[in-house]
Amino acid sequence: MRAVVVTEYGGPENCVLSDVEAPTPAADQVLIDVHSASVNFPDLLMIKGNYHMQPSPGFTPGKEVAGTVSAVGSPLTGLSVGDRIFAYLPHGGFAEKVLAPASGCYPIPDAVSFDTAAAMGITYLTSWFALNECAGFAPGERVFITGATGGVGTASVQLVKALGGVALAGLTTASKIDFLRELKADHVIDMTTPEHFATVRDQIHAVTSGEGVDVVLESVGGRSFDESLRSLTWNGRLIVIGFASGEIPSIKANYLLLKGTMVHGFRLSQYLERFQQKAQAVQSTLFEMAASGQISPRIMSIFPLEEFREALDAIRHRTVMGKVVIRATASSDCG
Ligand SMILES: NC(=O)c1ccc[n+]([C@@H]2O[C@H](COP(=O)([O-])OP(=O)(O)OC[C@H]3O[C@@H](n4cnc5c(N)ncnc54)[C@H](OP(=O)(O)O)[C@@H]3O)[C@@H](O)[C@H]2O)c1
Repeated sequence: MRAVVVTEYGGPENCVLSDVEAPTPAADQVLIDVHSASVNFPDLLMIKGNYHMQPSPGFTPGKEVAGTVSAVGSPLTGLSVGDRIFAYLPHGGFAEKVLAPASGCYPIPDAVSFDTAAAMGITYLTSWFALNECAGFAPGERVFITGATGGVGTASVQLVKALGGVALAGLTTASKIDFLRELKADHVIDMTTPEHFATVRDQIHAVTSGEGVDVVLESVGGRSFDESLRSLTWNGRLIVIGFASGEIPSIKANYLLLKGTMVHGFRLSQYLERFQQKAQAVQSTLFEMAASGQISPRIMSIFPLEEFREALDAIRHRTVMGKVVIRATASSDCG
């Protein structure tokens, strides 16, 4: 089978498409014929050697796939050959076949294609948990989403709207403004230049009757975090999701005291480990929302496996809007 292999830490140029032996599932695993795998920001961190759970070179990147079960380790997995499933993986998804723990597999309803399923795992589940579990979101609340053009950001804008909130979307690349409008964000907050950054709080106050936002979903870090914190209303909640800018911010505790602010970190892998049943239920709700048209992942491009570098570069060079997907099968059928 073909698989992308990281030969040494670095960029996508340090990865090659290799012929490797197909693995055999252990008792608690299934083997998946991968149809689609989506690319996530953390894939680049892992290829670079900068991820918090870092495998040694020689590994295959790719943290989420959609495909069919081609072998099961034991009948106890509860899965059968031919089942359409989505799987979260530590890594290994950019390949024609991959092993997955049965506990990390989620059935895909017939109405959801493999491409769509692959594009709505990590980002939508992250957004859902950050919003509902960490922030305690209620319908009608105003949510500021930084990095709104990216994978997590796009999912967040859609979920906030679908769940009855007001979505304020942070724009950092001016040419992507039409994309945010198409997403139907209620307000676009201009963060495209240092001068615009300086007015983020004012821009947010201008569209929230001078109050600020109830919730921030923050995935950029650096100045984006600082300005978001200043833009919260009294008793507001900021959820730390990531640091796409590479800058890890710090907070002065007196600021939290003054406005009753809550800052809450979120890491999806912890939730997947600790709350497996809840994750199954939420993922199933997300697939139902996609099947009924309430949410719909924005897939900017689909690349064949041999063009994996272009797919990774779309994230690395910030040309991505929404998601990019890699197809591991030669079939044009989107499943
Ligand atoms: N906590 C978790 O469990 C979890 C789960 C998934 C992801 N994450 C993290 O969340 C962050 C976003 O992930 P993603 O999948 O949404 O990534 P993505 O698709 O690459 O999107 C990144 C977003 O950040 C914006 N951005 C602003 N300044 C940036 C900079 N200096 N460099 C790069 N991007 C910048 C981009 O805007 P432009 O339009 O201007 O490029 C884009 O909207 C990453 O740090 C990722 O590791 C965390």
